[in-house]
Amino acid sequence: MAGGNLLCYTPAIMRTDTSQVPFLDLTAQNAPLRNEIELAWANILDSNAFILGPAVSSFEASFAEYCEAKYCVGVDSGTSALALMMRACDLGPGDEVITAPNTFIATVEAIASTGATPVFAEVSPETWLLDPEAVEARITERTRAILVVHLYGIPIDLDRFRALAEKHDLLLLEDAAQAHGARWKGQRIGNGSHAAAFSFYPGKNLGAFGDGGAVVTNDKEVCERVRALRHHGQTDKNVHGFVGVTGRLDSLQAAVLEVKLPHLDSWNARRREHAALYRELLAGSRFSMPQPAEGSEPVVHLFVINHPETQRVKDLLTENGIGWGMHYPLAVHRQPAFESLGKAGEFPVAESVCENIISLPMFAELEEAAIRRVSEVLLRADA
Ligand SMILES: Cc1ncc(COP(=O)(O)O)c(C=O)c1O
Repeated sequence: MAGGNLLCYTPAIMRTDTSQVPFLDLTAQNAPLRNEIELAWANILDSNAFILGPAVSSFEASFAEYCEAKYCVGVDSGTSALALMMRACDLGPGDEVITAPNTFIATVEAIASTGATPVFAEVSPETWLLDPEAVEARITERTRAILVVHLYGIPIDLDRFRALAEKHDLLLLEDAAQAHGARWKGQRIGNGSHAAAFSFYPGKNLGAFGDGGAVVTNDKEVCERVRALRHHGQTDKNVHGFVGVTGRLDSLQAAVLEVKLPHLDSWNARRREHAALYRELLAGSRFSMPQPAEGSEPVVHLFVINHPETQRVKDLLTENGIGWGMHYPLAVHRQPAFESLGKAGEFPVAESVCENIISLPMFAELEEAAIRRVSEVLLRADA
């Protein structure tokens, strides 16, 4: 399943409470917006403007403004956004790009697709995000970029990474696939680096009704290159300046995103409230969770926990009808596709985070009673 949004629904046996708590409920978000979306779609159907029509340019302008950045280019997935962003920055064979091993595989796939070499660095045991000192230790004369990942919707310390990139004359790029609307020291994610890539996979904080993505940047050249690359490298009518791809954001998806965008801040605020309640209810237990750095305003795409007895916790959640996920159970260098990029035990913090990971139900419409029930089951598992 793309996006790692693995949903684990549970068999109806051995439950102590019959009410289900889903891991994610997209209907709760989409149903109230259905009429508005159908109207927007009817306009596109009437105009036949399916490819790069006004719906796409309008959403690009809205999302750039939302991210407080100059430019946004809509593409067909978050993975394309990452790959085209890096190609637009001229990354390719012979270059090294440093990133986190506990991310979704797409981060690494996108680096590899440019011909550049992904290089992993260890993550911090506090934030579970890339550790700037570990990144610095991995810099070689071939390093061209650092691709930070705001995993789980938690902004990384951009001040430290900007300083590091400047010191070593590297590009700072962001995988913001899970961080729509998050802020670092008041500044929106997407506006604090050379360029950022977003995913609009349906389960994301801002999700389409299919695949979609965007590159956000303040660099006009990067914007123009991604614009060309997503559309067969076309730089002028019938002139193809680069070898590109068919990688445009669909008009129908852009229309969905435009309807949803005005709600994003209130949905994110709800997610933060839910996270605060989980944290309060689980305080003093053996559950550990990433601690955002001072200055980080997360959007809690995922609420993840670690526990020394993960299997027991997962079993009890399942028995009680509570949906859960794992983002991500295997560090990327432990995946067969990328096993050449690291040995078992080379990144012990990242590996341990992955091995013990559980993602709890998290979406804006989640009810307080459900969070209390999930937490009560978790505390029973911890006892
Ligand atoms: C951290 C991260 N990077 C990249 C991606 C790739 O996005 P997409 O699934 O839209 O290609 C995702 C989402 O799935 C993600 O969570």
